Amino acid sequence: MTDRKIRVGVVGVMRGMSFARGAGAAGMELVALCDTWTEKLKEASEELGVTTYSDYDKFLTHEMDAVVLANYFHEHAPFAVKAMEAGFHVMSECAACGTLGEGVELIRAVERTGRIYMFAENCAYFVYNQEMRRLYRQGVIGKFLYGECEYVHPDSAEEKLARSVGWNHWRNWIPATYYCTHSIAPVMYITDTWPVQVNAFIVPYDYDDPTKTMHTGRGDTAAVIMMKMDNGAVVKSLHGALRGHQLCTRIHGNKGLMESLRVMNTNMLRLHRAPLDKDAGEPVERIYLPDFPERHQDAVKTGHSGGDFFTNYHFAQAISTGKQPYLDVYRGVQMSIVGILAYQSALKGGIPVDVPDFRKEEDRKKYEGDDWSANPALAKPGQPMSSILGDIQPSEEAKALARKVWGGLDWSES
Ligand SMILES: NC(=O)c1ccc[n+]([C@@H]2O[C@H](COP(=O)([O-])OP(=O)(O)OC[C@H]3O[C@@H](n4cnc5c(N)ncnc54)[C@H](O)[C@@H]3O)[C@@H](O)[C@H]2O)c1
Repeated sequence: MTDRKIRVGVVGVMRGMSFARGAGAAGMELVALCDTWTEKLKEASEELGVTTYSDYDKFLTHEMDAVVLANYFHEHAPFAVKAMEAGFHVMSECAACGTLGEGVELIRAVERTGRIYMFAENCAYFVYNQEMRRLYRQGVIGKFLYGECEYVHPDSAEEKLARSVGWNHWRNWIPATYYCTHSIAPVMYITDTWPVQVNAFIVPYDYDDPTKTMHTGRGDTAAVIMMKMDNGAVVKSLHGALRGHQLCTRIHGNKGLMESLRVMNTNMLRLHRAPLDKDAGEPVERIYLPDFPERHQDAVKTGHSGGDFFTNYHFAQAISTGKQPYLDVYRGVQMSIVGILAYQSALKGGIPVDVPDFRKEEDRKKYEGDDWSANPALAKPGQPMSSILGDIQPSEEAKALARKVWGGLDWSES
């Protein structure tokens, strides 16, 4: 451990700005930014006053210790491998990998290079999830039996178009099961369990919903992933663009229930211990706003219910101590590949699909080079469409609205 601050560079100045702005509070020093979108990069550099790069390879020549990846959803693994090979520690946004084959490569690169790798799943660090982890570890609700978790995020067509510029932007083609780590990570973190099998069901593309038909996205509306965990517990994960914005977690143990509130202050927690399980004098119901277990004052100032502070904080801690963080490459890859395998299940009517354990070499061997994906850049016979309904094409109205929001860019040119 040295006294020198950890020098960090951030790739992607959209979501990446949260890491860039919060680096100092977590004991790191922001030294460089990288983005191919030069106008946005200029704005970011005016705000933060650090060296900027529009070329990733040149960015990797900058004098620094660590790299935060907030580039496109499906491109993190190859960027992470390159950064670790160049000697940098890496923190990566979701997903950890775009395919199962990339997951294998990423894990091997972490083991080969010995660099710190952290999966930046901020939702695990929301205040109520950290409190549930504390309670669970104290045995307050007993053994984990059943969980529910949700990330439901509807938006207007205009808002979605502004965030998904270009026909082949990842938000326009990822299948509904893929963006699953915001809901799954909290359950894995609270209960220390791993998904071992998935069954998934899709809420299909809704031709009667203008937020779908006026948008260029060709994926379905939402997905339910049922997971069997390695301790036998069952988890239902729901995510997608249904109406009713919600992020929440519910954990049933064999001695009690804990869950985040769905209304009013959604950072609050409900703990229920029935008379048959509780001690004398203990309330049956407790509803309260917990504190963060550490660095409370720093965390409450940052985005995403404090989650954005703790990703930077745990990354810095891992680099300082030389110990891989809790959200390490194995957990990051495991929860990311659930989204891919869940789509395989959904396409076959919800059949059970085993989730390989890439901590084991025999499981890695089976998936080396597996590039099954709806990514148009990987199109070839055998690859899936983005929707279970088949090839969704945007309406003429959606194309016209996209052209307007995208500043004249035509959907077919991008
Ligand atoms: N954890 C969260 O709360 C949260 C919230 C939003 C987004 N995200 C994740 O963050 C990532 C980025 O999402 P976003 O919302 O910022 O939108 P985005 O994916 O459209 O933005 C990515 C940024 O990376 C830049 N970029 C792409 N390729 C690059 C390259 N080769 N070199 C340099 N820069 C490159 C783009 O120009 C863009 O500015 C995604 O993986 C997304 O899943 C996470």
